[in-house]
Amino acid sequence: MLDNIKKLLDEVQAQSPDSKEKLEEFRLKYIAKKGAVTELFKEFKNVAPEMRKEFGQKLNELKKAAEEKFYSVKEELENQGGSSDIAIDLTAPGEPFPVGSRHPVSIVRNEIVEIFAKIGFTISEGPEIEDDWHNFTALNFPEEHPARDMQDTFFIAKNPDIAIRTHTSSVQVRVMEAGKPPFRTISPGRVFRNEAISARSHCIFHQVEGLYIDENVSFADLKQTLLYFAREFFTEDTEIRLRPSYFPFTEPSAEMDVSCQICKGEGCRVCKYTGWVEILGCGMVDPNVLENCGIDSKKCSGYAFGMGVERPTMLKYGINDIRLFFENDVRFLKQFSSAL
Ligand code: PHE
Repeated sequence: MLDNIKKLLDEVQAQSPDSKEKLEEFRLKYIAKKGAVTELFKEFKNVAPEMRKEFGQKLNELKKAAEEKFYSVKEELENQGGSSDIAIDLTAPGEPFPVGSRHPVSIVRNEIVEIFAKIGFTISEGPEIEDDWHNFTALNFPEEHPARDMQDTFFIAKNPDIAIRTHTSSVQVRVMEAGKPPFRTISPGRVFRNEAISARSHCIFHQVEGLYIDENVSFADLKQTLLYFAREFFTEDTEIRLRPSYFPFTEPSAEMDVSCQICKGEGCRVCKYTGWVEILGCGMVDPNVLENCGIDSKKCSGYAFGMGVERPTMLKYGINDIRLFFENDVRFLKQFSSAL
């Protein structure tokens, strides 16, 4: 019996399998469940008691030698790069890697931000969940004033009133409260209104707010800045027009139209045959707002504007339904993958 073990040990030591197949043969022959070593362990009960110790020792030696050989050869073969069954063709084309694309609203928001950054506007942001002071009261919307009806929203808590912001104008207040003039900043972000969803309006949309406060800022500065923006964003021959309007936080207030990009002013469905499309609200910041934010309205003046992002995006890409922006249908979104 001991001779048998010795013979097997010599055999194991003499072998060096040089392929995966041969290594598998080796495993089956010696260390698998039905291999020679396991079989010898079964003989243990037939060994004379005084021989058992030696038998056990020799058998364990054999087992260890077979296992060590198996694992060292296995590692060696693996390090050779799986010689036999994994052939790597370095000239084969790569696995396709799906690349995402930016959302059209993000593309246009970034473009707007860049156009204003070129003339020195910084970027500022505020929270989407806002208190009554920043969204309404500081902006000169008295409590119970009907002007609040224009911006009905979703309230999260009452007393104190917490709502999701209806416009990015709340960021004007936060910027002015936190610093000292001059301010020249734009604030992009999401806003929310309690509105019926249709092809032209949605309960969530995006705005970019602009604020410029310094000494001697005039309405002419506002108009020239907006004209610069319209021509950078659309085309060089774009015209703008300002129509008198009303916002509680600006005086005077105006709405700005741009000449229709689809029909170039001739009249079409998009501009409802007027040749003009409204894109933003603006005006000179009301002295009450400046005072509410701790700014001396005798010394400083300034302008603000707020534009939606979806409307200019629709004009730019010829999209006719605002709901497409929020459905996240990949067939729609992937059309913008080259517009990064
Ligand atoms: N906040 C206004 C709105 O959402 C737009 C606006 C901003 C108007 C700044 C004037 C000045 O309709």
